[in-house]
Amino acid sequence: MEGGGPAVRRRSRSASARKRSRDRAQSRSACSPPARKRPSSGAGEEPQPAPSSPEYNNDSEEDMFGDYDSFSGNDSLLAQVDNMEQECIQSIDLTSCTKNMEDKATVEPAFGYLQLQNAKSKELIFSAAGNITGFRTEEENHLRITSEQENRTLEPGDCFLDDLPSSQLLCFEEMNKTSVDSRKSSEWQHTCLTLESLQQRKNLIYSLPTSGGKTLVAEILILQELLCRQKDVLMVLPYVAIVQEKVWALSSFGIELGFLVEEYAGSKGRFPPIKRRMKKSLYIATIEKGHSLVNSLIETGRIGDLGLVVVDELHMLGEGSRGATLEMILAKILYTSKTTQIIGMSATLNNVGDLQQFLQAEYYTNNFRPVELKEYVKIQDSIYEVDNKAENGLTFSRLLNFKYSSNLQKMDPDHLIALVTEVIPNYSCLVFCPTKKNCENVAEMICKYLNKVFVCLFAPNRSREYRNHRENEKQDLIKDLKNIGKGSLCPVLKRTIPFGIAYHHSGLTSDERKRIEEAYSAGVLCLLTCTSTLAAGVNLPARRVILRAPYVATEFLKKNQYKQMIGRAGRAGIDSAGESILIVQEKDKHLVRDLVNSPLENCYSNLFLEFTKGIQSLLLSLVGLKIARNPEEIYHFMCGTLFGVQQQFLSKEKSLSAITREALGCLIEKGLLKGKMTSEKEQKSQSNLEITQLGQATYKGSIDLAYCDALYRDLKKGLEGLVLESCLHLLYLTTPYDMTYHCRPDWMIYFRQFSQLNSVEQKVAAIVGVPESFITKKASGQAIKKDVDNCVINRLYLSFVLYALLKETNIWNVSEKFNMSRGYVQNLLNSAASFSSCMLHFCEELEEFWVYKALLTELTKRLTYCVKAELIPLMEVAGVLESRAKQLYDSGYKTLAHLANADPETLVKMIEHLSRHQARQIVSSAKMLLREKAEALQEEVEELLKVPTDTPEGLLTTLP
Ligand SMILES: Nc1ncnc2c1ncn2[C@@H]1O[C@H](COP(=O)(O)OP(=O)(O)OP(=O)(O)O)[C@@H](O)[C@H]1O
Ligand SMILES: [Mg+2]
Repeated sequence: MEGGGPAVRRRSRSASARKRSRDRAQSRSACSPPARKRPSSGAGEEPQPAPSSPEYNNDSEEDMFGDYDSFSGNDSLLAQVDNMEQECIQSIDLTSCTKNMEDKATVEPAFGYLQLQNAKSKELIFSAAGNITGFRTEEENHLRITSEQENRTLEPGDCFLDDLPSSQLLCFEEMNKTSVDSRKSSEWQHTCLTLESLQQRKNLIYSLPTSGGKTLVAEILILQELLCRQKDVLMVLPYVAIVQEKVWALSSFGIELGFLVEEYAGSKGRFPPIKRRMKKSLYIATIEKGHSLVNSLIETGRIGDLGLVVVDELHMLGEGSRGATLEMILAKILYTSKTTQIIGMSATLNNVGDLQQFLQAEYYTNNFRPVELKEYVKIQDSIYEVDNKAENGLTFSRLLNFKYSSNLQKMDPDHLIALVTEVIPNYSCLVFCPTKKNCENVAEMICKYLNKVFVCLFAPNRSREYRNHRENEKQDLIKDLKNIGKGSLCPVLKRTIPFGIAYHHSGLTSDERKRIEEAYSAGVLCLLTCTSTLAAGVNLPARRVILRAPYVATEFLKKNQYKQMIGRAGRAGIDSAGESILIVQEKDKHLVRDLVNSPLENCYSNLFLEFTKGIQSLLLSLVGLKIARNPEEIYHFMCGTLFGVQQQFLSKEKSLSAITREALGCLIEKGLLKGKMTSEKEQKSQSNLEITQLGQATYKGSIDLAYCDALYRDLKKGLEGLVLESCLHLLYLTTPYDMTYHCRPDWMIYFRQFSQLNSVEQKVAAIVGVPESFITKKASGQAIKKDVDNCVINRLYLSFVLYALLKETNIWNVSEKFNMSRGYVQNLLNSAASFSSCMLHFCEELEEFWVYKALLTELTKRLTYCVKAELIPLMEVAGVLESRAKQLYDSGYKTLAHLANADPETLVKMIEHLSRHQARQIVSSAKMLLREKAEALQEEVEELLKVPTDTPEGLLTTLP
């Protein structure tokens, strides 16, 4: 993924986010208040999955706010709109229409910690940490950060924000040091960094509102650990895209300061990591990869090398199976390493006491938010300000200043047009919508309106001004998106982008999302309609955030979600003001009052609710890693988990000991552990538990315990007759089980795809248990009496998708062929790549599956990159996606070494639409990767040449 504008951190659409609906149902029940469902508004409306699993977020076809298409076809309406628009346009203060980026440029962020100073003696100064000044690296006597932006004036089309670092660590001297907001940011950051507990290396949780500036504190602590204490650091971030962004941002620091930045996300990461003799490593990991990394460090007795673990978005502990995995990471570190410091941060924590007890941590909090965020609620045409002091939490603020004709009222009953045209195009606006379909509809509706309104005879200048606003850059964006789509462009985006508007949801590929985010950050786009996937940890500049409805899919908003969404408005250093407007229907008024006045939800352990992915998987790995060997030690471990802290509240009927014993019993029954469970009283005299081979394979491969049996059976069956003429059979085996639950095959497509296979490939279908007659009958609508396994049928269907992808390497064509969104297709591919690498680790532990090792190594690589082989070395660089890799390759940058030795300025000149900031980051990341690879080889050489201390000769000479 390519780097974006400044500090743009994206929320994931990663494979790692997948959850089954069962999980969601369970995790929901763990949170208070219980989710409230929106009453179904139409027959046949399907329940919508929760937003945290975008790949399963199949949108309802229902348009929740009117049929916008009819809007454009109504001429009489147009006449009314024209009149109304006249008044509206007059009410807009054109004098305030300074260009968006000019506005941004006057907002002057400043940082107080690491100062990038002019001239050649740029020394890194950690003024707050106090104890870090002027580090020396191996390469340099004094520490310098070179920067191309000195004395450089911006060129036309160059975004001011392009030059800001995604990392929070750089400070620009020329920026406003006297900004009050900045000083206040620095104040709390200084206080936090100089806390006595931190000096004493106690664990710490800190919590500040969204955009409070938490990242900078974490990054300073990380550098301190790497450079002063000379220890490795693990940074856990919630999503793949955010990990990539951070690797990108911190690579240049690693190069200058002499530490390694290693990516652990998707299929990237080595287990255990290479032990570096000279340099320290910063591992930047997703929750899942962070877990495997910690396991591998414990297994090799190296967990003590980790000096610091930083967890961003700590509230994710309460989120389903990922929360359970995060809890496992932290509990294992707490139990096995007394020297590793843990730091967790979040904007949305409530029951901090529980978390403090779990992490044995101190707590720092502050209400500071550098940019004031005003919260409003809109009911009918009245806007109320959220006011804690008011009796019902709301005070009347104003009436919406926009006259709606009755027809327009019908088209846009929630006055979205009025709300957005108050801010765009001069300021940016995010509109959160409950579903993906809504995002597209709202974007189109607004554009249709703008089109009609601004071409009206009365306001020709205004019309031109609107479309002309950064017109060339919008054209470039369309061109880029077309390139990304290998010639195809989404028709909705084609219509909306000329107005500076786009939608953003998981149906887009990550390449597209990335490009749209960049354009939005740079002010080329002024409005994004988005789902909640853009809610957390994103640093996009929104002056106004509109919540289209208090729902995510069909579930009523939770306070945490609400806070994260509105927190995107008024980001420090990007905007100078921020406001949110929640659109509410009369019937939901009382619910919304509760929402704005209620405290944040508590964060509860998911270890127990996520039975197979949670407690069972934890206990299996405890025995596998020899962290705990018998039920008594395991119980002792469990007492130190968040579940242990909250157990009496979460499970009133059973004691922690009983729950632990029950889970161990299940593991023995499944053949994953060996040993005898005796009664609770005899526990002390109990013998050790042992992990079986299957158990070892399951935990090493991070396989969900719910599927380990099925996986073993399928692989065993494959040994008898794996069809290797093509990779279809192997692809079937690597199609993740959990993706099959939500798959609804289109039988005609199924049949067509099947018919196009050759006879050997068709045999695969029969071997796995899908007879041709079944597909034919389904396609012709006939009833089927025979019982067939839906999981197998869906799995084969999905493996057809993967097969097509590997053959064509064109997501657009494949998504069209299968009538699936391209985002979904890409997600399937990522999930299959990830599962394939898990299977590889599974097979490595089981002698009988030796033959799969070579096959899966190759297949994992093909699934991970799914591009022409020549682009793979370039795509290994963090953040370089296919379209960028292709541009680079076509321009002659064909290898990693080419990129690592490239001059960013030349890159900017040679590669279309590449900013300096991006060019610098690409080069830094490539340098880091090259250095990391070279050092790994050097370490290997040294290891090979090392003379063993226990040679027989050596032993002889030491004899008396
Ligand atoms: N000392 C400072 N002076 C000026 N701006 C700052 C300072 N520290 C951080 N910022 C800016 O504040 C913005 C928000 O910071 P950051 O991303 O760390 O917020 P956060 O607390 O992590 O919010 P969230 O909970 O939404 O992730 C960033 O654009 C950052 O550059
Ligand atoms: Mg943050």
